[in-house]
Order: sequence, then C-alpha cells, then structure tokens
Amino acid sequence: MTAIEATKEHLFIIQALSDKIWPHTFQDILTGEQIGYMMDMMYSTSSLEKQMDELNHHYILAEDSGEYIGYTSYELNYKGTTTTKIHKIYILPSLQGKGVGRFLVETVEKTARQNKNNGLSLNVNRFNKALDFYKRIGFEVVKSEDIDIGNGFLMEDFVLNKELI
Ligand SMILES: CC(C)(COP(=O)(O)OP(=O)(O)OC[C@H]1O[C@@H](n2cnc3c(N)ncnc32)[C@H](O)[C@@H]1OP(=O)(O)O)[C@@H](O)C(=O)NCCC(=O)NCCS
Repeated sequence: MTAIEATKEHLFIIQALSDKIWPHTFQDILTGEQIGYMMDMMYSTSSLEKQMDELNHHYILAEDSGEYIGYTSYELNYKGTTTTKIHKIYILPSLQGKGVGRFLVETVEKTARQNKNNGLSLNVNRFNKALDFYKRIGFEVVKSEDIDIGNGFLMEDFVLNKELI
C-alpha cells in the first residue's frame, strides 16, 4: 500500500471515492438531504480547491495494486497550535477493516512529528462506529460539540485527541 500526496489532478478521484463512501457511512445517521448538503459543502470542486489553496489542507490517497481505495486530509499547526487536525478519513466500504485507516493515520502522524506537532485532533459524529476505530488506535474523547452548519443542520460530534509522544 502506498500513500500519495494528492494534487488538484486528483480532485476527481477524491470526489469519486467520497460518492461511494459518504452515503454508505451516513445513511443510518443523517437524512439524505443533510448528506447531500454536507457533500456539496466539503467535496464540490470549488470547496476542495479552497481547502488545498487557502486552508492548508493536505490530502493523502491510499493506493493499492493500482487502485485508489481511500483518503485522508489533515492540517498541520491547526489554529496556530502544535496540533495536527485530521479533517477527513474515508476508506472504500469493501476494504474497511483491513488496516488502511490505521496506515493513513500513521502516515499523518509521521508528517505531524516531522513538523514538530505533538498531537492529533479530529471530530467524529457521535453515532458513527468509527469512534471505536479511533479509540482502538489511541484517541480519547475530550468533549462533545454540536456545530451549526446552516440550513437547519447540525453536526453532532465528539472531539477526539491523541497525544504524540
Ligand atoms: C473508520 C475507518 C477510517 C477505519 O479504517 P479501517 O481501514 O476500516 O480500519 P483499520 O482496519 O485500519 O482498523 C484499525 C484497528 O481498529 C479496529 N477497528 C476498525 N473499525 C472498528 C470499529 N468500527 N469498531 C471497533 N474497532 C474497529 C480494527 O479492528 C483494527 O484493530 P486491530 O489493529 O487491533 O486489528 C473506516 O472504517 C471508514 O472509512 N469508515 C467509514 C467512514 C468513516 O466513518 N470515516 C470517519 C469519519 S470521522
């Protein structure tokens, strides 16, 4: 398995992967309307370009046997701190549970350490079973937060941190 730093040329790959993974992940947690709203907010071409060009989000694609099978995005020095924020991590449903998620988090961890960051942080929906994955790989819940994302929609999240020692 290889980690590939995504560029603008990979935007359509990120979009194709998110189309396959997002509805599957959230179909029992969010309404179809909210899934559509959030996907447009996070994965439209203009949003992805802004994330890369202005918000310092880096995307990594996991590639195996010539296929792209998942992605993560992260931001070093989140809000001027020494914490790296993992914004997204999504693996194709048929390939979950095979170590790809751990591989991507470890890849981000390595880059975070190289950049003298000493922690990882992320948000996860409180009803998403990914919570158990994060706990398994060393994250701890630090708080619960509801984020108003407009249009009457809320993100009902836990904030999780992992110390890098
Ligand atoms: C959550 C996700 C990124 C995890 O990646 P993954 O490749 O499936 O997980 P891994 O195979 O690397 O798992 C690493 C460890 O966590 C455990 N784990 C993974 N998912 C788990 C779950 N739902 N519950 C309990 N443990 C879990 C694995 O058993 C493994 O433990 P082990 O090393 O002791 O065997 C992936 O399942 C996914 O894309 N889910 C849907 C999208 C999503 O919810 N993303 C997170 C949004 S915040």
